[in-house]
Amino acid sequence: MKKGFVFDLDGVITDTAKFHYIAWKELAESLGITIDEVFNESLKGISRMDSLDKILAYGQKENDYSPAEKEALAKQKNDEYVKLLADLSAADLLPGVHDFLMDAKAHQIPCAIASASKNAPMILEKLGVLDFFGHIVDPESLKKGKPDPEIFVKAAQSIAVAPEDAIGFEDAQAGIEGIKAAGMYAIGISATETLAGADLQVGSMTELSVEQLIER
Ligand code: BG6
Ligand code: MG
Repeated sequence: MKKGFVFDLDGVITDTAKFHYIAWKELAESLGITIDEVFNESLKGISRMDSLDKILAYGQKENDYSPAEKEALAKQKNDEYVKLLADLSAADLLPGVHDFLMDAKAHQIPCAIASASKNAPMILEKLGVLDFFGHIVDPESLKKGKPDPEIFVKAAQSIAVAPEDAIGFEDAQAGIEGIKAAGMYAIGISATETLAGADLQVGSMTELSVEQLIER
């Protein structure tokens, strides 16, 4: 049976969560809403517009903006986020990621990206790892976001691997739930949060070996 790996991006390949947080916090402040890092946890893995909706609801302003105004706010946040990514480079890969991807390639295990981020191709390019991935699921093509399994099922299909032969890597609770609902083996990556339902949790990718995972 052909095996495959499906990766989330933000928080698994690189630590962009801090930049999402800075950009959302700034936008929220401009609307009179204060968010903190605890609230930010609930935005991980959630699409741009769903994140904005959550922030507006948190500030009890969910009915204050038209769809066009919300589009403008989401764009404003993204413009700031993209500015913060200007200096992103291979040095920003999380520990163990490059070695793991090299090892997967050596074992001819196809890899795909299942990220809610529309910025994924640009970020992977800046990190210098775009070529390791056979496919990046386009979040615009999804009917539902995480924790729905759709993005993980599509990612596995894109590299011609059955979900039960695929391993998913995630740092967010919504992502672990999506991976499990897709029928895949879930590896949680977080040194700080407990990811309920993960088949295995590690603090970083340095703790993982491709060979051991294939045997499993
Ligand atoms: C996810 C992040 O990977 O992508 C979320 O965890 C983010 O925080 C989402 O909102 C969408 O990202 P983008 O780059 O399309 O705004
Ligand atoms: Mg993530």
